Amino acid sequence: MNKFTNKYGEWALITGASKGIGLEFSRQIAATGLNVVLVARSDSRLKQLSSAIERDYPIKTRVIAADLTEVDGIARLFEATADLDIGLLVNNAGREDSGPFLQIPIDDAIKTVDLNIKVPLQLTQHFATKMRARGKGGILIMSSIVAFQGVPNIANYAASKAYDLVFAEGIAAELEPLNIDVLSVNPGFTKSELSPGINFDGLPINPMSAAAVVKTALKDLGTSRVSVPGSVNKFLYYSGKYLQPRRLNTAAFGGVFRKVLRNKLGASDAVASPHTSNS
Ligand SMILES: NC(=O)c1ccc[n+]([C@@H]2O[C@H](COP(=O)([O-])OP(=O)(O)OC[C@H]3O[C@@H](n4cnc5c(N)ncnc54)[C@H](OP(=O)(O)O)[C@@H]3O)[C@@H](O)[C@H]2O)c1
Repeated sequence: MNKFTNKYGEWALITGASKGIGLEFSRQIAATGLNVVLVARSDSRLKQLSSAIERDYPIKTRVIAADLTEVDGIARLFEATADLDIGLLVNNAGREDSGPFLQIPIDDAIKTVDLNIKVPLQLTQHFATKMRARGKGGILIMSSIVAFQGVPNIANYAASKAYDLVFAEGIAAELEPLNIDVLSVNPGFTKSELSPGINFDGLPINPMSAAAVVKTALKDLGTSRVSVPGSVNKFLYYSGKYLQPRRLNTAAFGGVFRKVLRNKLGASDAVASPHTSNS
């Protein structure tokens, strides 16, 4: 029995499992021997993944297609998992809005708050209550390297990820005595579909693979409260924390995002129009 089946078995639930980092979580967790509940909006992608996982690993899967920002989405998720012993929760589903704040439609910005903040909040309380009853468990919450300071042109997303980080740190301390491990996962740029068309021309940035981010997170679970994958991200994290004034971090991250958005949107001087993922 490995640490996963022993402490977090027999079922894991992954939100945002249909692509990107969540898909990678689903595969790597399945490889440890846990059954996986796959949650996202796109039923067809989830079913494809479910078949591939059941072909590759001797485990069970359950697919739940739901928009977690809709009124009945979370209720349906709770109902569809009522019979399962969920020992590992991966709060991964997320969306991003980027561009000048004053140009972002407010409904898009609120949707980001709903998916990145309200969803992990509700899922964590629901499943942690069950983990308390079973006497053990694990919870991952996807944050980001941008969570450690305000970032212009992606201010609302960065603030939502700051919530995820601070929430995870707080409940990690509360739930530790209940034998529940909580981890905030804070990657930098990672290859995925979060921001289609993004390019890093002229920037010294090499996005990490989702596989590497997930591998680090699963290794850190149970031993740390904050996971920062990759040496460049670690450097940014530690220099931001101990060496640079926060205002300088905001300027540095702001400069990078401005350039990334300019590359993407083709604007010459200012970043012209906002972009929203998963609308
Ligand atoms: N990629 C990066 O550079 C990066 C860096 C730091 C942190 N992160 C964080 O990592 C997490 C995963 O991001 P990713 O890069 O893998 O993005 P992604 O490729 O866009 O995947 C997002 C996932 O969330 C699901 N999702 C989106 N809206 C949903 C909704 N309303 N209800 C249910 N599921 C929904 C998507 O599936 P459907 O479209 O099928 O619903 C998809 O499975 C996010 O929390 C993100 O903030 C990403």
